[in-house]
Amino acid sequence: VEVGTGPNEDQRLLVVANRLPVSAQKTKHGSWDLQMTAGGLVSALRGVQQQSFEALWVGWPGVNVEIGKDQQTLTDALRQQHYVPVYLNPSLVDLHYNGFCNSVLWQLFHYVPLNTESKLSETKTLQKQWAAYQAANHAFAEAVLKVHRPGDVVWVQDYHLMLLPGILKTRVPDMKVGWFLHTPFPSSEIYRALPVREEVLKAVLKSDLIGFHTYDYARHFVSACTRILGLEGTPEGVEDNGLLTRVAAFPIGIDPDRFKEALGKADVKAHIAQLRQRYAGRKVMLGVDRLDMIKGIPQKLLAFEKFLEEHPEWADKLQLVQIAVPSRVDVPEYQRLRSMVHQVVGRINGAYGTLTHLPIHHLDKQLPFHELCALYAVTDVALVTSLRDGMNLVSYEYVACQRDNAGVLVLSEFAGAAQSLGAGAILVNPWNVTDMANAIEHALTMSNEERRERHRQNYHHVTHHTVQTWADVFITELNDTHVEAELRTKH
Ligand code: G6P
Repeated sequence: VEVGTGPNEDQRLLVVANRLPVSAQKTKHGSWDLQMTAGGLVSALRGVQQQSFEALWVGWPGVNVEIGKDQQTLTDALRQQHYVPVYLNPSLVDLHYNGFCNSVLWQLFHYVPLNTESKLSETKTLQKQWAAYQAANHAFAEAVLKVHRPGDVVWVQDYHLMLLPGILKTRVPDMKVGWFLHTPFPSSEIYRALPVREEVLKAVLKSDLIGFHTYDYARHFVSACTRILGLEGTPEGVEDNGLLTRVAAFPIGIDPDRFKEALGKADVKAHIAQLRQRYAGRKVMLGVDRLDMIKGIPQKLLAFEKFLEEHPEWADKLQLVQIAVPSRVDVPEYQRLRSMVHQVVGRINGAYGTLTHLPIHHLDKQLPFHELCALYAVTDVALVTSLRDGMNLVSYEYVACQRDNAGVLVLSEFAGAAQSLGAGAILVNPWNVTDMANAIEHALTMSNEERRERHRQNYHHVTHHTVQTWADVFITELNDTHVEAELRTKH
């Protein structure tokens, strides 16, 4: 590979992510039905897989399949689509995925402090979760090593696999390994609470290239390395005894053509017509989120309630459609959130509803892609009010589907997307309900001229900073960094 070139045609890309982009379900006839899963990472990387070079995706298939015939048929079905499954047993999934990943790292990275109501067994639980996290990262390493060929680019994704670069580099020192975090990386003041803070940082630093969505996250990571490990931070990354690990920002995007094409299809057009008829005479606001505390759904509902309280004349003229995609349903925090959201939706509909209209239409499910595109296209306002969010691609998808309407995006300043869509969106502090209620009013009453101008800026960004360019830039830089590192070791 030459310095300065992007991914070339005979170079293979191994994407390693906790979850495969498909979930498997066994059919009545014993074969496997593979369905696309939800989430930012999956929608983003789907675009990468369609590029010209060969890409394999290594990940957990999300189901428990006993070793034997079933596992073999599933592996075969997945391999046909270039997916390499990593099977994890249910107790490992519980301690690794529900435990260390989603009750510890996910929370901390989104500024939710670690659980302080510590029962006496708490430390023991954390130790077990940490052991499971290590075991799961080793299982992923074995799967990668089985398929890896010299020259492959290995691109490790997200907080589930922070130990993987360290394990892979110990086994194959000249392997080309990049790591990208899809969540925020918090201030080092938050990160330093993690009991295993050194081990995790040291393993990630074995990568050739480390990427984040925003410059701020990259800066937080570098200061965690300087303060916790005593290493040197430079504008290029982190230095350990003269050896540099490159750290940089690579803001992700979407595949806008996928939405453009969908909007031209007959089933999406039919849905659009149906929805237009259903919502005739009303303004429609949309929320699409995984049901996760970081998405700020209760705060959004409270702002909607406050808006109706202050503007009762809108109660019959406004529809909020909130799609809450079920997520991590075995984690207690997510179960509590679901009940809380249902309670607030019930309260608002009870207070402001009539026999013919309920202000909130709430669904606990993932919509099929064509229905989602139609909703994105017909709604007047999107409310993306995350309390913290690595990037948030729903905001990008909404903009991509609004070419004709120029709908308004209300966007949390705590989402990475605020850095790229801030000029066109109405930015809000999701912790300030009054601020959000005012933003709703602004969005609903904005002049056509302002709406079009704001949308123009965002549409330009979304269609020019795509997931394809994101992947190209990362892989090019990974190739270059790796070559530079090899040259350094030779001289
Ligand atoms: C976020 C994470 C992804 C994750 C997705 C869905 O976008 O960054 O790594 O896949 O949420 O969550 P789940 O736990 O269902 O994989």
